[in-house]
Amino acid sequence: MRDILVAGNWKMNGSSTANAELVSGIIAGVPEGRGFSLLVCPPFPYLASVAAQAAGSAVSVGAQNVSEHQKGAFTGEVAPSMLSDVGCEYVIVGHSERRSLYGESSAQVAAKFQATQAAGMTPILCVGETLEEREAGTTEKVIDEQLDAVLDAAGVAAFGAAVIAYEPVWAIGTGVTATPEQAQDMHRHIRGRFEALNADIAASVQILYGGSMKGENAAGLLAKPDIDGGLIGGASLKAQDFLAIAQAAAQN
Ligand code: PGA
Repeated sequence: MRDILVAGNWKMNGSSTANAELVSGIIAGVPEGRGFSLLVCPPFPYLASVAAQAAGSAVSVGAQNVSEHQKGAFTGEVAPSMLSDVGCEYVIVGHSERRSLYGESSAQVAAKFQATQAAGMTPILCVGETLEEREAGTTEKVIDEQLDAVLDAAGVAAFGAAVIAYEPVWAIGTGVTATPEQAQDMHRHIRGRFEALNADIAASVQILYGGSMKGENAAGLLAKPDIDGGLIGGASLKAQDFLAIAQAAAQN
């Protein structure tokens, strides 16, 4: 069976003091049990200190974004090697906020995915449809296009060391969660696409759900066969909220 990954996407929140408290609260409350892991993704300036604090604990650290370039004249960008240098193991790529607010194309997301792997870290590739796309009946087409951009560039084998996050845009930060059935349908669709390409990768790739996941709905989502964890925004900012989801993962 696939392990569950409970990943916190802190977005642009936190401070040195608040982060230290949050991380120590999470570490102190990691539930007993096996078959799940915990990840926090702080903003860039705090990665090194959070990684130092979390070293040796059950909590891993990831970044929320990365440059697709290795080094050089890219003012304001952060290279993949820098992230691994300060202790990151994962990088979120293609979050819908990056795609919509910062105009990241699927080709750029694919380049970031590959750059992340080349630096020895695991990309968490986000895909998801807007409400308009869902209402127009194009959800699967949108997800397929987002996945294909990475599959074409990196190949299916690259997903042996990658995580996918299905995040319906209409559920992100809205308090509206996809029902477990809606999420499972899309997770099944995504895994089905991999089944057609490589059965081993299809069976092993973790597919997280993201979009207003919280303690109250986590167990129902995680009970579904193709949901292997969560990418959590709002509910990752308080230790007790994040740990409630970790509890659901530990009991799944
Ligand atoms: P949310 O964010 O849990 O606040 O909806 C999820 C995400 O954007 O990854």
